[in-house]
Amino acid sequence: MFKSLLTGLVATVLSVGCSFAQSYPTKPIVMIVPFAAGGPTDVVARIVTEHMSRSLGQQIVIENVAGAGGTTGSTRVATASNDGYTIMMGHMGTHGAAPALYPNLKYDPSKDFEPVGLAAGTPIIIVSSAKIPASDLKSFIAYLKANATKVNQAHAGVGSVSHSTGILFNSMIDLKPTQVPYKGTGPALNDLVSGQVDYMTDQIVNVVEQIKGGAVRGLAIATPERSPALPDLPTTKEAGLPDYQVSAWNAIFAPKGTSKDIVDKLNSALTAALADDNTKKRLLELGAVLPSAKEGTPAWLGDFVKIEVARWSPVLKAAGATAN
Ligand code: MLT
Repeated sequence: MFKSLLTGLVATVLSVGCSFAQSYPTKPIVMIVPFAAGGPTDVVARIVTEHMSRSLGQQIVIENVAGAGGTTGSTRVATASNDGYTIMMGHMGTHGAAPALYPNLKYDPSKDFEPVGLAAGTPIIIVSSAKIPASDLKSFIAYLKANATKVNQAHAGVGSVSHSTGILFNSMIDLKPTQVPYKGTGPALNDLVSGQVDYMTDQIVNVVEQIKGGAVRGLAIATPERSPALPDLPTTKEAGLPDYQVSAWNAIFAPKGTSKDIVDKLNSALTAALADDNTKKRLLELGAVLPSAKEGTPAWLGDFVKIEVARWSPVLKAAGATAN
């Protein structure tokens, strides 16, 4: 008697769970972008979620929750309900570099999230104010060293992509500039254009248009090959700093415990977005690198996060980064 009741109860729970996932989503989904609007993470998020919203049949609403290099927003998602209605766009900073810089980080990138999928690779560009009288990387580095006590570098908070890749660059040229933190490299770029700050290392999707328009100066891209989006921008190898090789990435995560069915639905919507001609065109025009099919699965992202966290810790320690 009891056994058949229990069996019936389990079957009911399972069928309710399955029907919940089958009907998901039945209301708008919130995607936390842990940086200010208008920056690279926000831009990648808005481009891919436009198509994802259509294929899911519910709006994905972007909510910018900035602070602490992206860890404030990431913590919010790590502790959110795992019902599939709160997800985030994380990246190499929030889910790679942050643990090395925040010993008391309130989340573990590898344990407190369900990886959904990689959205875009975002090569790093060394970019300066157009007011600085240095038209190539070598003369720019000479200018920085000659003005070491005066120059300043913008970034999006300790542990962000622009902060961690900036530390790497500064350590390679033996420079300790004044650091100017922002809630994202969107606002930082405004001050780079106006000359309030001197340089930053930022994700290509944020600076392509401004470099093309001459509002800021691209000095080199830190990837082995030039970007089709900026064919005239030399690589760091061509520009005389071959060891500075670094690329960032942006990826979607859900809270730990989000069901596989829901994660798979979100991953399918992301994959469809990245296969959509218009979405692809917009991302490629900004210099993003699209994931291959192999790189597009939740399992691949889960393994990749573990590799990134392990990679960045020694790199940042060697570069003299201090934990917060
Ligand atoms: C942003 O969206 O502002 C950037 O991803 C911040 C950073 O990590 O540099």
